[in-house]
Amino acid sequence: MLQISNLPDVLAVPLAHATGDSGGFWAGSRVEVFEEIFLVFLVLGTLVGTVVITYMLYNAYTYRASGSDDGTVERPQLGELPTGEGGGKKLFLSFGISAVIVVALVAYAYTALLYVEQGPAEIETDDNLDVEVVGGQFYWQFTYPNGETTMDELVIPADQVISLEVTAADVWHTFGVSELRVKADAIPGQTDETWFVAEEPGEYRIECFELCGVGHSGMDGEVVVLEPDEFDEWYEEELGGDDPDDDDDEADSLSEVAHG
Ligand code: CUA
Repeated sequence: MLQISNLPDVLAVPLAHATGDSGGFWAGSRVEVFEEIFLVFLVLGTLVGTVVITYMLYNAYTYRASGSDDGTVERPQLGELPTGEGGGKKLFLSFGISAVIVVALVAYAYTALLYVEQGPAEIETDDNLDVEVVGGQFYWQFTYPNGETTMDELVIPADQVISLEVTAADVWHTFGVSELRVKADAIPGQTDETWFVAEEPGEYRIECFELCGVGHSGMDGEVVVLEPDEFDEWYEEELGGDDPDDDDDEADSLSEVAHG
């Protein structure tokens, strides 16, 4: 029996999706989804390009001018349509194959982007971390489930679905973390929902992607991804765990977060 896990990633990931082995049609972080779309288009594009150029070179060579026309080759006359061979079979075949490839790619990319739009199944459960993001001139403010906030630094656990509700305090901004493929408009009076997963602990740069004033280029921050247990520790120590009413701690933790 075919073991999907033994195949190279290029084949295994789409196959796992197609057969539902990943627990749903799509799964994984945004980074994985976009990497896969890129790979699929790269491989198919290379394949189609190779076939087309090879066939073209083959025909150019086969039907090259040999210098000796003995009149045995039937050539179309000026004003006459070439009949070709096989009654347009080649034309039908090439159009047919092209249509199948294009329709398959559209369906594939559409379901992938739908998944990115809606988020994984876990997003409906309590397993994810909800953070409210407010963009303002010129800062990013993050509010955690217990009501505590951080400035310009979003600390999250690795390998967990993070749900963001993004809005703005003054003018239009756009919250973006390129490395994690996150981008959400921050618009006053509106809330934009998005999600992401950071698989590896580390730091990822937050940028504003909407020209929003003189401080736009400096409106950046950091996503700090910690191991889950380190995050729990941080959450307890810096944000006072589940105690949202401790105002003194908030001031302390804010300055610690901003300078630590
Ligand atoms: Cu905020 Cu640009």
